[in-house]
Amino acid sequence: MSQTSSKITAIVGAQWGDEGKGKITDFFAGEADYVVRFHGGNNAGHTVIVNGETYKLHLIPSGVLYDHPTSIIGNGVVIDPAALIKEIKYLQAKGVDPKLKVSDRAHIILPYHIEMDIALTQYQGNLAAGSTKRGIAPVYGDKMYRHGIRMIDLLEPEVFKEKLEKAFNFNLTIIKAFGHSSNLNKDKIYNEYVKFGEFLAPYISDVSVDLYNSYQKGESILFEGAQGISLDVDHGVYPHTTSSNTVAGHISSGTGVTFGEINRIIGVTKAYLSRVGQSPLPSELDGIEAETLRDKGREYGTTTGRPRRVGWLDLVQVRQAVRTNGLTEIVLTKLDILSGFEEIPVCYAYKIKNKIITEMPASLSDFRNAKPIYKNLKGWGELTPDMIEKGFSALPQTLRDYVKYIEDQINCKITIISMGPQRHETILR
Ligand code: GDP
Ligand code: IMO
Ligand code: MG
Repeated sequence: MSQTSSKITAIVGAQWGDEGKGKITDFFAGEADYVVRFHGGNNAGHTVIVNGETYKLHLIPSGVLYDHPTSIIGNGVVIDPAALIKEIKYLQAKGVDPKLKVSDRAHIILPYHIEMDIALTQYQGNLAAGSTKRGIAPVYGDKMYRHGIRMIDLLEPEVFKEKLEKAFNFNLTIIKAFGHSSNLNKDKIYNEYVKFGEFLAPYISDVSVDLYNSYQKGESILFEGAQGISLDVDHGVYPHTTSSNTVAGHISSGTGVTFGEINRIIGVTKAYLSRVGQSPLPSELDGIEAETLRDKGREYGTTTGRPRRVGWLDLVQVRQAVRTNGLTEIVLTKLDILSGFEEIPVCYAYKIKNKIITEMPASLSDFRNAKPIYKNLKGWGELTPDMIEKGFSALPQTLRDYVKYIEDQINCKITIISMGPQRHETILR
């Protein structure tokens, strides 16, 4: 396949996660043969609303609600088998039988990873990210230490036992050294996880071969990112990040599909900003302003239910997302939530130690000291369903100016705008 004829699209988060990637993946997935997660785990929470029914997905890609596409969980994802089985059953109870394949190479989250996550977060204090407590950092840590346990190991009980011995002792030693007690029992975990392996066996295979064969045939593949650029373990606001690479470049290592085949890379950006967890956040709002925006945007975590911190759109962050992901376009979501504000500030640069900074600083002290510099744009009144139906040109001029200002600042086209959580509340430009 040449790059120009490929039908491979990536969807990634261009902020702090929760930009609406699930909605946008669902919007595109009807045309796809495969929809693929390539990193992260059940720290993700993607909400999709179809025919008035709400689905909250954590591990299974958001294309699962269509009959045709196969859902793939790639090797770069970390899987809590109990959470995956729960999600399969949750979907089945709603009448959706997932057509799912899971990489034999994906690492699995064990109960000691979750205890370790809690211990780590406490220990790291001010430097913690405020994790989702799903065991994400410890499982990726074990992967890099090279005593991680993979999906394939659940199907080989002898190997599983051998690996569990090492990994369990390693983790428990550290958890206890942090001063935490633990009731975890290795044999109990072994028996339980062998059973999980039996349940999941039909789903497990080398999915990179399916994906290779698929794009060789000219089929359509959609990659669904989790989290967002500022949570990327390399490019994000480290150490307040997650533990995987969220950038599109990670698709190659996280699934085995060569990056050269991907021809459309879509960044999802909320028209304002939200963040769950801990880090400096230059354009954060507080007080009544924050409460108003949080309530209007229903900004409460899909995974943990935590109230999301909210603020004005930060273009320094989106600029970095455009560059590091190689975005070919942006989808701007939740513009409807900004309706009714008289003025809408947009942060286009930071002031740090009397300098104007337009790119994300690596220095933590710079980021802590960053003050937002705003351009105040004129707001617009309430939108009507009629306007959304008629398309972009029917929208208020001030809203169109808002979109244009963002495009100019970040040097990337906004090709789609989302005006509500449902599939049809989406406008192509
Ligand atoms: P994700 O993690 O990026 O998939 O985003 P989440 O699903 O965690 O959070 C986005 C929330 O906003 C969900 O509740 C969506 O249903 C909702 N949503 C997505 N797009 C829009 C939109 O354009 N307008 C409104 N009002 N809600 C949206
Ligand atoms: P989606 O895919 C928003 C945040 C956590 C914490 C940091 C590290 O729904 O956009 P972790 O549990 O990964 O070790 O937590 O990352 N975080 C997210 N925030 N959306 C997400 O996923 C997130 N996944 C992790 O709040 O600050
Ligand atoms: Mg989310």
